[in-house]
Amino acid sequence: MGFPDNPAHTHGVTTRMRASTMRVYWSRRRETVLWHELSWYAVRMSMSLTTVAPRRVGESITTMTEYVLPTHANALGTVFGGQVLAWIDLCAAICAQRHAGRLAVTAEFDDVSFRAPIAVGQVVLLHAKVTAAFRTSVEILVDVHGEEPQSGRRWPCARAFVTFVAIEDVGGERKPALVPPLVTETDEERLLCAEAMERRTRRLSRRKCSA
Ligand SMILES: CC(C)(COP(=O)(O)OP(=O)(O)OC[C@H]1O[C@@H](n2cnc3c(N)ncnc32)[C@H](O)[C@@H]1OP(=O)(O)O)[C@@H](O)C(=O)NCCC(=O)NCCS
Repeated sequence: MGFPDNPAHTHGVTTRMRASTMRVYWSRRRETVLWHELSWYAVRMSMSLTTVAPRRVGESITTMTEYVLPTHANALGTVFGGQVLAWIDLCAAICAQRHAGRLAVTAEFDDVSFRAPIAVGQVVLLHAKVTAAFRTSVEILVDVHGEEPQSGRRWPCARAFVTFVAIEDVGGERKPALVPPLVTETDEERLLCAEAMERRTRRLSRRKCSA
C-alpha cells in the first residue's frame, strides 16, 4: 500500500480514515527516519575509516646517530656515499612510517650532493622530518651532519628529499594508502611545505616523461 508523502494529501477522506492513514504514515515515517539515520551513521563510519587524522611535523621527527667504522669507509678513509644514502633511506623510512602509521616504501630520491666528508672515527648525525603529505605519499627532508665526538664540532654533510608511499594490503595486493594530512606550525615548516609542491610537480613530470 502506498502512503502519502505528506499528511496534507489525505484531505477529503473521512476523519476515521484520515486518522488511520496518519498512524500508518507516521509509523512508516519513523521507520524511514530511523533508516536514514542508520544510513548516515554507516556513511560517517566508512568516512572515518577512509580519512585519517592530521599529524604535526614534530610527531614523526626521526634522528639517528652512526659511528663511522673502517667497514663504512672508502680508500680515502671517509664514509662511502652509498652508505650515507642507506642511512638517509633508513632514517626517512622510519619518519614516513611514523607519520603514515603504516608501512611505506621509497618512491624517489631527489638529487643528493655531498658537501663535506666524514672520516672513520667520526660521527654521522641524521635528522628526518616530513615536509609535505600528499594523498598517499609524503616528502621527507633528511639533513646529515658530521661530528667530531671529542670536540663536538659539527658540519653539514648532505641534504636529501625522499618521497615515500604508504602501502596497505588489499586482498593480498600491495596498494598505495591514504596518509594523514600534515599540520605545519612554524614559518619554516610552512615554507618547506609550499616548496614541496613545486618539487612534486617536477618529480611527477619527470616520471611522466620517463614512462
Ligand atoms: C612507489 C609505488 C608504490 C607507486 O605505485 P604506483 O602503482 O605507481 O602508484 P600510483 O601511480 O598510484 O602513485 C601512488 C603515489 O606514489 C607517488 N609516486 C609514484 N612514483 C613517484 C615518484 N617517482 N616520485 C614521487 N612520487 C611518486 C604518486 O604521486 C602517488 O602519490 P599521491 O597519492 O600522494 O599523489 C610503486 O612504484 C612501487 O612499489 N615501487 C617500488 C618501491 C620500492 O621497492 N622501493 C625501494 C625499496 S623500499
